[in-house]
Amino acid sequence: MPAKPLPKAELHLHIEGTLEPELAFALAERNGVTLPYATTEELRRAYSFKDLQSFLDLYYALMAVLRTEDDFAELVDAYLARAAAQGVRHAEIFFDPQAHTARGVPIGTVIEGLARALDGSETRYGISTRLIMCFLRDESGQSALETFEAARPHLHRICGVGLDSAEVGNPPSKFREVFQRAADAGLHRVAHAGEEGPAEYITEALDVLGVERIDHGLRCLEDPALVERLARDRVPLTVCPLSNVRLRCVDRLADHPLPAMLAAGLLVTVNSDDPSYFGGYVDDNFTAIREALRLDDETLRMLAANSFRAAFLDDRARHDYL
Ligand code: HPA
Ligand code: ZN
Repeated sequence: MPAKPLPKAELHLHIEGTLEPELAFALAERNGVTLPYATTEELRRAYSFKDLQSFLDLYYALMAVLRTEDDFAELVDAYLARAAAQGVRHAEIFFDPQAHTARGVPIGTVIEGLARALDGSETRYGISTRLIMCFLRDESGQSALETFEAARPHLHRICGVGLDSAEVGNPPSKFREVFQRAADAGLHRVAHAGEEGPAEYITEALDVLGVERIDHGLRCLEDPALVERLARDRVPLTVCPLSNVRLRCVDRLADHPLPAMLAAGLLVTVNSDDPSYFGGYVDDNFTAIREALRLDDETLRMLAANSFRAAFLDDRARHDYL
């Protein structure tokens, strides 16, 4: 019998990256969308990526099947059921509104569909949840601003903003203004940085965007002064080990820098990123690193506890989880 999964929070999870091939085909049929794959097996065989962009191309293409509030609600429901089985007690969930509005899906359809399913997460699955709205960094700063304004009537559904998509050549400073508006609206701020992009993007995300967490952050290790700052200020890093291998940021799981990050005193958490595409949900990431990196039980418990320390929870809720 496999051990019972440790209770944990998931802080780096793109809801669109939980779209399993079976649900993609079911939604395609319901919505009259033709996918360029004949079967779920053929689609799964396409899940072989050479870098972040090759993944993003497929990730955005498959989203064509998501059209109605019900579709978004069903996607969330499927994720919550899997997450509950993996020990997730709290989830802070990213979504990419521009990837949907660009296809003519209204932002209200996206947010209200997601939020409707999340409203039932505590009673149905025992998981508390938050939504984090991400801007696509390969789109313009102006597009991010327009997206933020379009989302204003729904901001009560959202706890924070983030930044994702193709990193190299798209520095955080492009998004200074929209992150300032988010701060003025009382929202939390996070950003992907140092996944494929350089350590300077991590520094810029902290200094220019005022982010409270860094998503990925692996390349901080190239800048010792930055590592010292992240450790001193207890800035959480939401690391995604299976993603890093699948997108070839790291050659093999056994070479993953997570132990070096822990040794440097960084507040590391373990997450799944896009679990349908990268070969596992969050507890699968815990199991894989336990084996490949030979982590002991105490380290795994610390990583799970870190996820609650790094979460956007109030102190009472955090205390209840820890
Ligand atoms: N990196 C950047 N953008 C993304 C990712 C990622 O790992 N997953 C979904 N969008
Ligand atoms: Zn991500």
